[in-house]
Amino acid sequence: MAPDSAPPRAPQRAPDRATCAVIPAAGFATRFLPATKTVPKELLPVVDRPVLQYIVEESAAAGLSSVLLITGRGKTSMVDHFDRRPDLEAVLAAKGDQARLDAIRRPSELADIYTVRQPEMLGLGHAVGYAEAHVGGAPFAVLLPDEFPEPSDPLLSRMLSLQQHTGGIVLAFLEVPDDQVNRYGIGSVEPADPALGAPKSTVRVTGLVEKPALADAPSNLAVIGRYVLPSGIFDAIRRTKPGSGGEIQLTDAMALLLAEGTPVHGVIHRGVRYDTGVPLGYLQAVVQLACQRDGLGPEFKRWLAGFLAGD
Ligand code: G1P
Repeated sequence: MAPDSAPPRAPQRAPDRATCAVIPAAGFATRFLPATKTVPKELLPVVDRPVLQYIVEESAAAGLSSVLLITGRGKTSMVDHFDRRPDLEAVLAAKGDQARLDAIRRPSELADIYTVRQPEMLGLGHAVGYAEAHVGGAPFAVLLPDEFPEPSDPLLSRMLSLQQHTGGIVLAFLEVPDDQVNRYGIGSVEPADPALGAPKSTVRVTGLVEKPALADAPSNLAVIGRYVLPSGIFDAIRRTKPGSGGEIQLTDAMALLLAEGTPVHGVIHRGVRYDTGVPLGYLQAVVQLACQRDGLGPEFKRWLAGFLAGD
């Protein structure tokens, strides 16, 4: 057929880019008891703001405009942190303390915050399943709230772009030592299709297993707490039986979609990752971020150096 008689093409619609961050935050945080008996672990401070604020700042920086917090009993204060405090704002305004006024308003300006309750904690997959009514048919990101990359790292943004391109699942991986593979979801991978045009650190995932024994681990690539998922994950979660630890695992639901042909890719993260979910990682995050903080870092570093030298 001559080109000028070809039927007009339907305009090509760009595939959806995720706009919502889902943050599962209903857990008990037993590793931080007794501190977390009444204070949600997501509100433990790292330098001058709660851990959860770093996570919401990360999602806002990646362009995600809404955040769905999956919460549970005793966690309302976590949601309050992202609300306004007109009484406190009035006091600070009367004092002319603009810096603190900006600081307390900032959390409420980052994103639209929504919540849903997970009434019982039956696993990460089970928690993510509660996002379905909010997310609908669009792709979305999941950010686990006890870990985050260096705040300037564009990891999440890269993952969102890749997912928009593939329409499948995009994970973040970190290479971990042998003695840690049984604490994570572990992937088997092969080089990504060069036609994807993705950076070298992008891999195609060929298998996923939750918390394997070292002998059964297909690699040392651990899934860290950043995922971009298509809405098909909800049906897969419904079809997922309890797995490791008797819980409904997100890893198993993703493995199901992988087996059924959904493309799964991973971005290998080579930068810093703060793991605030365990006491050692939490302390390391506080020290590292305090050293970088304007107005605090230089003096803190001097003190720290002296302390370590035994002064
Ligand atoms: C969860 C996931 C696991 C992932 C890890 C990352 O485990 O189930 O696949 O590797 O987060 O932190 P959890 O730490 O909740 O036991």
